[in-house]
Amino acid sequence: MLRHKDHFHGSDLEKIEQYYGIPKEKIISFSANVNPLGISQRLKEELSGHVDVITQYPDREYTRLRTCIASYCSTRKEHILVGNGATELISLLIQTKRPRKVLILGPTYSEYERYVSLEGGNCLYYPLKETEQFELNVEDLCRKLYEGLDMLILCNPNNPTSSAISRPDMRKILDTCLLHGIFVMIDETYVEFTHEEEKVSSVPLTHDYNNLFILRGTSKFFASPGLRLGYAVTGNQELLLEIHGKKDPWTTNSLAEVAGKIMFQDKDYIRQTRELIFRERERMWKELSSWQTVKLYPPKANFILMKILKPEITAQLLFEHCIKQGLMIRNCSTFPFLDESYIRFCIMLPEQNDLLLAAFAQLLKD
Ligand SMILES: Cc1ncc(COP(=O)(O)O)c(C=O)c1O
Repeated sequence: MLRHKDHFHGSDLEKIEQYYGIPKEKIISFSANVNPLGISQRLKEELSGHVDVITQYPDREYTRLRTCIASYCSTRKEHILVGNGATELISLLIQTKRPRKVLILGPTYSEYERYVSLEGGNCLYYPLKETEQFELNVEDLCRKLYEGLDMLILCNPNNPTSSAISRPDMRKILDTCLLHGIFVMIDETYVEFTHEEEKVSSVPLTHDYNNLFILRGTSKFFASPGLRLGYAVTGNQELLLEIHGKKDPWTTNSLAEVAGKIMFQDKDYIRQTRELIFRERERMWKELSSWQTVKLYPPKANFILMKILKPEITAQLLFEHCIKQGLMIRNCSTFPFLDESYIRFCIMLPEQNDLLLAAFAQLLKD
């Protein structure tokens, strides 16, 4: 039974359909953070020509897929582990390391805390400051890291703040963690949407640090959350062996195996996606930044965190106003350290973004 106050995740289209009576095909999801281009024509055609692969088990070692991913990320295939979405790999890492005390930045993606708790561990939060635009103060974080912590979890760029940590700063964090025996997990689900991916991604650091495990997925950038294809990058071979010991075989299905090999080489699609997101993110940012009634935080990913400055307009009110027009945004009041004045929306196609701006203007433009 859904209550009025229920909050909806980006994938909750069925719940929205049931509660608001809007057919889910009519909803534009500004809340799922998925590439609005959908999958490429090339992937559609090539994948449909390969449906017969489901008559076979995937390669247990995923050698060709791992080779493709390694080339896409400029690393070695021996450093790659594939899984059923980034989600399976988060869960496997936590089950394997079983950290007792974990530090996470807040606000961030809620699943980390859930998996740590399921394994009997505790999460402590390091709050990102609104006054610092939710950017991480690296020096301050490094001072707060100590021996008793088992793991640090970072989402880079971070969901929902859209802030990112640069590679030189990440080095400082990793050095400090190494000193204190702290393992670091970095979720790079949104890294391909950053303007200077090569300056944000920590993949090259997996050659230098063995206390590092990076997660990546295809759900958002390659618009395929239903495919469930994710991967991890680590230079720690012992850890990989340990995880392999726990992992079920074939959790990445043979269609995902084929799709991965196509999508990571689809250079036109990758370029088109980046061009679209950069252009529209800049346009939305410029337009909304000129309004007195909202505050935006500099976005590095394909979504923007927005604070409503009009006291009579809450996140829930704005959500309801938008959903009645078939536009689904994310009410962020359930994230730790955020309240009823924060919402998040992702960058969609230009005409869809125009609809969202128009809906916002009805309540927020003074
Ligand atoms: C930060 C972050 N990591 C991981 C996921 C889940 O990724 P996947 O679909 O690859 O399991 C999400 C989904 O919203 C996310 O926001």
